[in-house]
Amino acid sequence: MSATSPTLANLLHEQRRFDPPPELAANAIATASIYEEAARDRLAFWAAQAERLTWATPWEQVLDWSDAPFARWFVGGRLNAAVNCLDRHVAAGYGGKVAFYWEGEPGDTRVITYAELTAMVCQAANALTELGVTAGDRVMIYMPMIPETVVAMLACARIGAVHSVVFGGFSAEALAGRTNDAQARLIITADGGFRRGAAHALKPAVDDACAQCPQVDKVLVVRRTGQDIPWNDGRDIWWHDIVDRQPSTHEAQAFDAEHPLYIMYTSGTTAKPKGILHTTGGYLTGVTATHRMVFDLHEDTDLYWCGADIGWVTGHSYIVYGPLANRATSFMYEGTPDTPAKDRWWQMIEKYRVSILYTAPTTIRTFMKWGEEWPAKHDLSSLRVLGSVGEPINPEAWIWYRTHIGGNRCPIVDTWWQTETGSIMITPLPGVTSTKPGAAMRAFPGITVDVVDNDGNPVPNGSGGYLVITEPWPSMLRGIWGDPQRYIDTYWSRFPGKYFAGDGAKRDEDGDIWLLGRVDDVMNVSGHRISTTEVEHALVSHPKVAEAAVVGTHDPVTGQAIVAFVTVKGSVPADEAQGAAFAAELRAHVAKEIGPIAKPRDILITADLPKTRSGKIMRRLLRDIADHRELGDTTTLLDPGVVQQIAAQLAGSG
Ligand code: WT7
Repeated sequence: MSATSPTLANLLHEQRRFDPPPELAANAIATASIYEEAARDRLAFWAAQAERLTWATPWEQVLDWSDAPFARWFVGGRLNAAVNCLDRHVAAGYGGKVAFYWEGEPGDTRVITYAELTAMVCQAANALTELGVTAGDRVMIYMPMIPETVVAMLACARIGAVHSVVFGGFSAEALAGRTNDAQARLIITADGGFRRGAAHALKPAVDDACAQCPQVDKVLVVRRTGQDIPWNDGRDIWWHDIVDRQPSTHEAQAFDAEHPLYIMYTSGTTAKPKGILHTTGGYLTGVTATHRMVFDLHEDTDLYWCGADIGWVTGHSYIVYGPLANRATSFMYEGTPDTPAKDRWWQMIEKYRVSILYTAPTTIRTFMKWGEEWPAKHDLSSLRVLGSVGEPINPEAWIWYRTHIGGNRCPIVDTWWQTETGSIMITPLPGVTSTKPGAAMRAFPGITVDVVDNDGNPVPNGSGGYLVITEPWPSMLRGIWGDPQRYIDTYWSRFPGKYFAGDGAKRDEDGDIWLLGRVDDVMNVSGHRISTTEVEHALVSHPKVAEAAVVGTHDPVTGQAIVAFVTVKGSVPADEAQGAAFAAELRAHVAKEIGPIAKPRDILITADLPKTRSGKIMRRLLRDIADHRELGDTTTLLDPGVVQQIAAQLAGSG
């Protein structure tokens, strides 16, 4: 595991351990027996979880794995995801219960009950139907963090359309690539959203994307900021013009358990993002069960807040589908955590009495950097469970989170999962599992994971290896959109019969699991997955760039940071391809091609790149250089001098 950072190495010496708080344990949703129960009969456990949903037609078989690795869960069952998130709660008398307390960055607020959300989704479903959207059609969603984003997703689900949400921080290019891959004809967007104290436009990026997507014939635009935006009369429709005049009831049809629910694009090891496909019955079962047990959700008293963006899988599973299917009351916030001041989150937690908070290590480290005086200004005593997701959490951040946010009383659940897994796979259960700072601990009940060596053999306690999932699970991806072979190759071929996650992991002496980061060419920057190849691809698309090699290096706040080594074309005059201005030009180019999150932190313009005799760029060496580590073996290099030169340059610039 060459990518293991110094911080992660520390984590392996971590000895502290925290037991579940007795009061929490006494009233916990999940108890210790659940592990044994699930181990005795995994499929019966998942069937019992699925029973908590409302099915129009019951299933005949829990799992059909006869066409492995293509799974079918709850075979023959039929249900509607939106009905499970909304109508059934209203029918059970909870129409007046708040689904979302929402706060915009400027301070505007909305309170939306389950009955109101149901009516909004019915209206939007009717509008989509009027626009000609039918079951199986793909709909892109490119939105800020506003309630209409949830409404748009659930309206799609209600009519069986497949949504594909693209994070609002991605560029027009990225949106266009995904829209074309999904062959979507409709994009739902907003004029913009509020971030860092200003209106941040989204619609212009949609216009740019549409120029490359001839099949898109309608763009539905929510008015959020009121800012001026370009308008295309034949194509663009204001959300309020078409949605508001629709009836607020809609007869929902039930769909097959395996009906596609959404596609979420994520970076792999190639330049082309993969469209991860999730279906309906198994996915809802997985997110509902995990959301309830991992966060110990007491739906009638808890106030739950997941600080992720809906544009990522965390938002799909733990802002939208899990919490709503569980009839939770959630808080949702539009903007950035330092607007107007660095205590915005703590001020809102105090105001709404948030009891469960789910966020990412990079956010926690940012708060650490800002200082504990910001949370200290506020009464955070309503909090009772804290969650972490997105990357390995270093013990320092874990302890800071526990001390300064959790008042030394709240259990921390470090939850490991992926876009592909759909729901949480490895995590403590707050009333059951002791926690260790930096460890995700053990597989969720009904999930079977292992840590294996190069040959796929389980490693003994105290050893590291590759994380695998050994049995299919309900919320697993059903494939990669349009590319079944890539699904088999990426996940099921490295260790035949086992799902290869792409992460390194260690089992400690107690058998508990510690995640050690990616073992492939995927970087994790602020909890966002970015492929080295994708960034290289973006860099070489710049007219002056000849070659690029990209590696992830350790960063104290973002976890990993992107370092790019670039060579320029011989035809480019030397003075046009050096210095801070050129580096800035390249960074802007990457932002345009992918999005600001993919901008390299450092760009090194070099005369050459280290390559093997067969011409393969030696990323391992570049990683060593970027991490300022001693150089590894360079004997297979074409020109060992290249490495020394780069290292000297980096030392000089750093
Ligand atoms: C990758 C998946 C799942 C939602 C957010 C990211 C890393 C995620 C943890 C954790 C260590 C983690 C892994 C994984 N990761 N959670 N608790 N501890 N690493 O979803 O973009 O699909 O990324 O994030 O490397 O493979 P994603």
